[in-house]
Amino acid sequence: MLSAPRNFFVGGNWKLNGNKQEIGKIINFLTAGNLDPSTEVVCAPPTIYLEYVRKTLPSSVCVAAQNCYKVPKGAFTGETSPAMIKDVGVEWAIIGHSERRNVFGESDELIGAKVGHALEAGLKVIPCIGEKLEERESGKTEEVVFCQLKAIADNIKPDQWQNVVIAYEPVWAIGTGKTASPAQAQEIHVKLRKWLNDNVSADVAWKTRIIYGGSVTADNCRELARERDIDGFLVGGVSLKPDFVQIVNARQ
Ligand code: 13P
Repeated sequence: MLSAPRNFFVGGNWKLNGNKQEIGKIINFLTAGNLDPSTEVVCAPPTIYLEYVRKTLPSSVCVAAQNCYKVPKGAFTGETSPAMIKDVGVEWAIIGHSERRNVFGESDELIGAKVGHALEAGLKVIPCIGEKLEERESGKTEEVVFCQLKAIADNIKPDQWQNVVIAYEPVWAIGTGKTASPAQAQEIHVKLRKWLNDNVSADVAWKTRIIYGGSVTADNCRELARERDIDGFLVGGVSLKPDFVQIVNARQ
């Protein structure tokens, strides 16, 4: 069987953490660490540090915004546009993280519009999807993640899929220490890939990376990375620590 053309991808979502001193330490371990050159590594600092991090990190490590708005400019106090993110040399944006959905009330519709606009503006995107514990326990996982994925996919043109990495992050696993088992994560990744196959194209399903997020650590990353449809990770807490390097190197 052909091996999939999907480069391993590891994102570090720093969330609302860090100051210049702490970020300096993260940059040090990323610069000094022996990062597997075949892994695509992307760090997502808070917006205010995007330009500083982009200028300080080696160019082999990409930078992502944690969020962006759905229009280029205008009367939208507090927002940041994809055009501005690009203007400071940053190439990626995480969109629709579960904290944006559940703490800030972002809807599937808004997230879809943000994905569409960011891609049009030339950013690469990491749209996030994932079910809550009560949704999983009531057997609704597939219904929820397919609905979230459809709202995203509807805004992506065929030639833009190469700039998309889907993050599956079950909400019950984020920041809880309760990682999905490799089998649990693999099961949903397979279903998401089948959804892409049935609703977008076989080519997109084969080539699009689907990464897992939720309590990934240096201890559990290798076992997860062995699953055929887990193409990398989106890491929260551990992305602030030197252990992140071991997650980047999980496939070595
Ligand atoms: P943790 O790795 O801290 O569980 O966070 C996952 C996450 O939300 C990454 O976007």
